[in-house]
Amino acid sequence: MVAKLGGSVITDKTKNSSYRSDVTSALAEEIASSDESVVVVHGGGSFGHPLAKQYGLSADGPLQASTGVSQTRGAMYELNSLVCKTMGESRLSPYPFAPFDAVAASGPVPTSKWLRGLLKAGLTPVTFGDVTLQKGGFKVLSGDMIILELARILKPDRCVFALDVDGVYEESSRMIIPELTPSKIRRMHLPRGTDATGGIALKLDVAARAAALGTTVCFVSGYRRNEFSKALRGLDFYGTIVRA
Ligand SMILES: Nc1ncnc2c1ncn2[C@@H]1O[C@H](COP(=O)(O)OP(=O)(O)OP(=O)(O)O)[C@@H](O)[C@H]1O
Ligand SMILES: [Mg+2]
Repeated sequence: MVAKLGGSVITDKTKNSSYRSDVTSALAEEIASSDESVVVVHGGGSFGHPLAKQYGLSADGPLQASTGVSQTRGAMYELNSLVCKTMGESRLSPYPFAPFDAVAASGPVPTSKWLRGLLKAGLTPVTFGDVTLQKGGFKVLSGDMIILELARILKPDRCVFALDVDGVYEESSRMIIPELTPSKIRRMHLPRGTDATGGIALKLDVAARAAALGTTVCFVSGYRRNEFSKALRGLDFYGTIVRA
């Protein structure tokens, strides 16, 4: 199983560098008690996004090296260490890894073997959105894109996105949409959002592509630990389910 702990949930996006240890702790406890093998990815929230924005780092435009690269990356490591500390206090044994691209560069088979080995040892691999060196310069590699890579590599039954809202909603009515398909997603008109990585539009694009690979994608509130737990276990939950 793969779970994305949204930066919108584990931090307060309205206040720079504000970590929500209580929320993260509740989600980590649910991961621990689910008895599922879970690879965890977390977003940047108010640690990564404000710096990335300030220095003009984004998912599309490559940027040459600058203090912004190291500062943004530093903020992500800072948040990651807070998340791992909370996980360790919540009956999990986190195994943080970065940069994801270096691992992925060794090819999909070794990466999946390596991750499965960690899971088998009872560890919880944890990674996060990052600033990576790609052709032409530095780009933001969003946690959402990492989820898609993990779906490709691990082919998990389910991917669970914990968000600060109850699921994917209809833009006009704000009603939660219980079920979506990749083709329904392609017909939606979505805001690109204000963060460094494309907001809900990118998230749903990832969901559509992961669902097309055979993974069921769940969008659930990270504030409702019971619903998060049900989604993680493959039970009916309140939120949005995306299936091909
Ligand atoms: N149709 C929609 N359905 C669900 N959420 C939406 C929709 N349109 C916009 N949003 C917004 O998208 C936000 C979630 O995306 P956002 O990128 O901010 O969070 P995140 O991915 O959890 O954070 P991070 O990028 O730091 O990991 C929600 O707070 C919600 O307000
Ligand atoms: Mg996001």
